[in-house]
Amino acid sequence: MELIANRVETIGTGTRGKNYWAALDLERQGKEVLKLNSGNPAAFGFKMPESVERAVTQNLHRALGYSDLRGFAEAREAIYEYHVGRGVKNFNIEDIFIGNGVSEVASMIATALFNKGDEFLVPSPCYSLWTNEAALNDATSVYYKCDESNHWNPDVEHIKSLVTKNTKAILLINPNNPTGVLYSKEVLEEIAKLARENNLIIIADEIYDRLVFDGKRHIPMASITEDVLVITANGLSKSHCLCGFRCGWLVISGPAQMRERVNEAILKVASIRLGANSIMQIAIPAALSDSQYTNQMIEKGGRLYEQRAVTCEELNKIDGISYVKNDAAMYVFPKIHKEIADDKKFTYDLLMEKQVLVVPGSGFMWETCDHFRIVMLPEVEALRKAVREMGDFISKL
Ligand SMILES: Cc1ncc(COP(=O)(O)O)c(C=O)c1O
Repeated sequence: MELIANRVETIGTGTRGKNYWAALDLERQGKEVLKLNSGNPAAFGFKMPESVERAVTQNLHRALGYSDLRGFAEAREAIYEYHVGRGVKNFNIEDIFIGNGVSEVASMIATALFNKGDEFLVPSPCYSLWTNEAALNDATSVYYKCDESNHWNPDVEHIKSLVTKNTKAILLINPNNPTGVLYSKEVLEEIAKLARENNLIIIADEIYDRLVFDGKRHIPMASITEDVLVITANGLSKSHCLCGFRCGWLVISGPAQMRERVNEAILKVASIRLGANSIMQIAIPAALSDSQYTNQMIEKGGRLYEQRAVTCEELNKIDGISYVKNDAAMYVFPKIHKEIADDKKFTYDLLMEKQVLVVPGSGFMWETCDHFRIVMLPEVEALRKAVREMGDFISKL
């Protein structure tokens, strides 16, 4: 008898793959490594919002018990107001489930929805959480292309060509990880139409929706359509630099009958784990009424804004790469215009030579060995140095 379940073999994570362990080995040997593999702001000195610290410390005593299966009522009220304010209709407070990060929420969604043989349309490149959850729940991920020459927008014609009678759901990550771009309204409308015509559920991971630069506007997928079932995932890991709190939620919106059935299914799944962590739920109303904290990071002079500026300034100086400037989030996904046989080896060699850890495109299920992702979280001078090191390394390829 096998000791280990076969499904474990299907798990793959680009951000914490072999190169990550190699980086930890280097650190154990006393070397300083700049780990640009993960969008974890606290690791780079981003501080907790004071509003959240106050709310949590003053109300800690309220976090002793299990919460309701869906989460604290006042936290869900704050989430409800947030999404209504962003133009989402056709849902109510009971259609909100709080989970331990978008990561747990993704697991709950996949467990509740997928049967063996179901096909799940996912972007390429894709953040691996969703494909892992699909695989663990016996669904097949079918990759649709995002088009770098069209600002990394999903290629809707390609999506159409992939729909079969087994297609159950389509995933949108907007703003996107790893490309950092915002999708256009036209593309969102076309995807909503396609979902309507083919009876697909849309899963919208919008965890970066508040981290948008240059006055651009993120359009929630669920605000585009009222007659398609949309499950939106969001949380506080990025907008309020609270990754360690593990705070996420999902919102089910759309036609009442489908919504009720999915709600019942997710409730069953949620009951397995009794409740999400209660402490972080205290943070939700405080965080969602503190948009100033987030805005300060993305405005001129703010850390994320300036770090992005420096990253782009230095990338512009590197021969042999091109990139699409990110509209949002903390990532850019440059293309290398040189022959690379193995992008994992490329990033491993970069780590060994320059002690900078980045994630290869293949870590995001990108099919050709010609991209890598940079996380723009270190302070500007550290980032400047790191991108220069990358340039030096690439120039010698
Ligand atoms: C697109 C996307 N979704 C979800 C997550 C995970 O979020 P959480 O910390 O809420 O589990 C990440 C983390 O990097 C992400 O980039």
